[in-house]
Formats: sequence, structure tokens, C-alpha cells
Amino acid sequence: MKGRSSLGFYERRIFPWLNDRLTRAPEIERLRAEALVPAHGRVLEIGFGSGSNLPHYPAAVASIAALDPNDGMHDLAAPRLASSRVPVWPVIGGAEQLPFITGAFDTVVSTLTLCSVKDPERVLAELRRVLRPEGLLILVEHGLADDPGVAKWQRRLNGLQNVLACGCNLNRPIADLVGRGGFEWKQLRRFYVPGVPRTHGWVTLGVATPSESTKYEVQSTKYKMSTR
Ligand SMILES: C[S@@+](CC[C@H](N)C(=O)[O-])C[C@H]1O[C@@H](n2cnc3c(N)ncnc32)[C@H](O)[C@@H]1O
Repeated sequence: MKGRSSLGFYERRIFPWLNDRLTRAPEIERLRAEALVPAHGRVLEIGFGSGSNLPHYPAAVASIAALDPNDGMHDLAAPRLASSRVPVWPVIGGAEQLPFITGAFDTVVSTLTLCSVKDPERVLAELRRVLRPEGLLILVEHGLADDPGVAKWQRRLNGLQNVLACGCNLNRPIADLVGRGGFEWKQLRRFYVPGVPRTHGWVTLGVATPSESTKYEVQSTKYKMSTR
């Protein structure tokens, strides 16, 4: 892990602590455990945060690259890394430009993170690149609800959410973004998490694989799109 970030005190110290507490409610822990069952081999987790997924990784996982741009998150995660059964490699950075070769991972995990990245389309293109052709993208994400009444409030509250939760958006259509981003859903469930306000609790949980038409040829240093 290199460098220290130039983030402010709220983003580096208060938000990581708050997020850690709010996203480890029993209902969310159950979703983490359910989603991570198919994870295996070399795993990349983007938006690793404070490492809340670590206890839920199954034995089939060999290693985890833990990517997050917020070094305050990495600091909070450090004790969990120290007691992890699986080797974890912390990496400071955003998922828009990944420092990994094409086809490097068997599984990519994103939980409650596609809401917060700056450029979700670019992130999905990068995830597709670093995932091997039969690899799995595992997601648990909150986003834009189908219910127009809830969606209206999500749009109204989005600016406030952005400020309070350090760039988090309530209004991203997650299932569509993933489909348009070159993935096919293999499993998909969308529902309101009990006990969470509907604006924040519309969750997309599922597993996707790179779609046939957009597979990348695996090369050691660069990648190109195959048009099969
Ligand atoms: C709401 S937190 C979720 C943390 C963790 N994934 C979880 O499930 O608890 C969102 C995380 O995304 C990270 N993040 C923000 N922008 C990102 C980016 N461009 N690429 C990767 N992660 C990012 C934040 O630093 C934060 O740790």
C-alpha cells in the first residue's frame, strides 16, 4: 500500500467509522454472507471499506486484493486483515483505473460501492477487463427503486446523500448499468431490505459474468475487445 491520501478529516476518520457501524446491521450481514457463497480463487474487492465482508468469504477464496481510495478505510480495516484466514493485499486507488493485468481475477466483489464510484460505466469496463472470461462479478448494491414514488424521493435526497455519505448516490439503476456494462446476470434478486428506509434500502443482489459478445482476450500487459 503506498501514499497517504489528501482527503479531509470527515472522509478519512468520521465517515469510515459511521459507515462501518451502519452497514453491519444483522440484515446486511446476512446479505453479505448470502452473496459471497460463490466467491472463489483470486478475488478483487472494490470499495473494500473497513473489511466487513472478510468474515464471510468461503474457503474456496485463495487471496483478496482489497482496493479502496480512502486510506482512512484501510486504517479501520487493518485489524481485520491481521486476523484474516485469507491473504489480503490492500491497494489504495479508485476502480476507474485498476493496476491489474487483464484476466487477473476469478471473482470481483462490489458491495455498496457502485453507488459511490465517480464513473460507474468506466468501473464496469475495468471490472470486465480484469475478470477472467468465466469469472464472477458478485454484487450487493443499493440503487434506484422501480417504484416511482420511492424513486422521486431518491432523486430529491440525492444531493444530501452525496455530501453526508462522501459521494454516495441513491439514484443509480444498478441492474441496468451492469447489463449495459457488458455483463450477463446469472442470478439476480431485487428487494427492499427490512428495517432500512426505502430510499436507501432497494437492493440489487446477484452474480453476473462477462457477456459473450464483449469478452476480452487475455494478454499480459494490454487488452483489446473481441467482437465475436
Ligand atoms: C458505502 S462504502 C462501502 C464499503 C464496503 N464495500 C461495505 O460493503 O461496507 C463505499 C466504499 O467505496 C469506496 N469508494 C469510493 N469511490 C471509489 C472508487 N472510485 N473506487 C473504489 N472504491 C471507491 C469508499 O471509499 C468506501 O469505502
